Amino acid sequence: MADFAAGDPCLLYDAKGRTYLIRLQAGSEFQYHRGVVVHDAIIGEPEGCFVAASMGSKLVAVRPRLADYTVKMPRGAAVVYPKDTAAILMWADIYPGATVLEAGTGSGALTLALLRAVGESGRVVSVERRADHSEVAVSRLEGFLGALPPNLDLRIGEVEANFADVAPDRVVLDVPEPWHSVWPAVQYLRPGGMFCCYLPTIPQVQEVRRQLAATGSFIEETTFEVLHREWTVEGRSVRPSHRMQGHTGFITVARRFTRPGPEVGSDS
Ligand SMILES: C[S@@+](CC[C@H](N)C(=O)[O-])C[C@H]1O[C@@H](n2cnc3c(N)ncnc32)[C@H](O)[C@@H]1O
Repeated sequence: MADFAAGDPCLLYDAKGRTYLIRLQAGSEFQYHRGVVVHDAIIGEPEGCFVAASMGSKLVAVRPRLADYTVKMPRGAAVVYPKDTAAILMWADIYPGATVLEAGTGSGALTLALLRAVGESGRVVSVERRADHSEVAVSRLEGFLGALPPNLDLRIGEVEANFADVAPDRVVLDVPEPWHSVWPAVQYLRPGGMFCCYLPTIPQVQEVRRQLAATGSFIEETTFEVLHREWTVEGRSVRPSHRMQGHTGFITVARRFTRPGPEVGSDS
């Protein structure tokens, strides 16, 4: 990995493990309660270097992991938390080369993870109904990637109207009413493809599950949540941390199949 350059995102760790996300700019300064850090002291240095603040404290400078960036970046819409993003990537089976239809783009946090998972040979079409949210997403995506990649197609509109020309391998929805996408998925999600949605409440989950079941076109429907409990490991104090992210969202996945015609699989 190249040394830090102007324009790079950079995560600073102080002695107490607190983190600060900055964007490196020649001639700029980062101010915090222990003084000032000049960006020029980091630009040109390798990742993991120490940098001194004006009051003498030292900080470690690294590139943010995608998880660091998505929870620390300034947001418009609420983002999918990294623990849930990790599960979505696995259970919606996002693979290199896949064409993914995503909505809403929101702040672009999930978009970043999807792009990484599909790789350069894949494609992410991300639809957002609010132009102001999409603008925020563009700046957050550029903030991490430098520039928007050619395999990302950002669209303004309703996701339901974007199935036909995309013909996705995977559908990943973080919208409040994903059930409006169930029938479009029956038509345009490829057989064997995965439908995934992320919802904060159980009535929403019930509705999408009801509609998925009503189509008779999905198997392996499952709904789960991810509980991520950190542990404190300090000397003899080895125990679960006092704080925990209590609730974020429920993940539902289902796999589309082609219903057999009367001549296939019929015993009569
Ligand atoms: C919770 S945010 C998505 C956050 C995003 N997943 C992230 O990690 O940054 C939900 C977004 O969906 C958008 N939205 C809601 N319904 C939609 C629809 N039918 N089509 C497209 N976008 C929609 C909202 O405007 C909002 O920006």
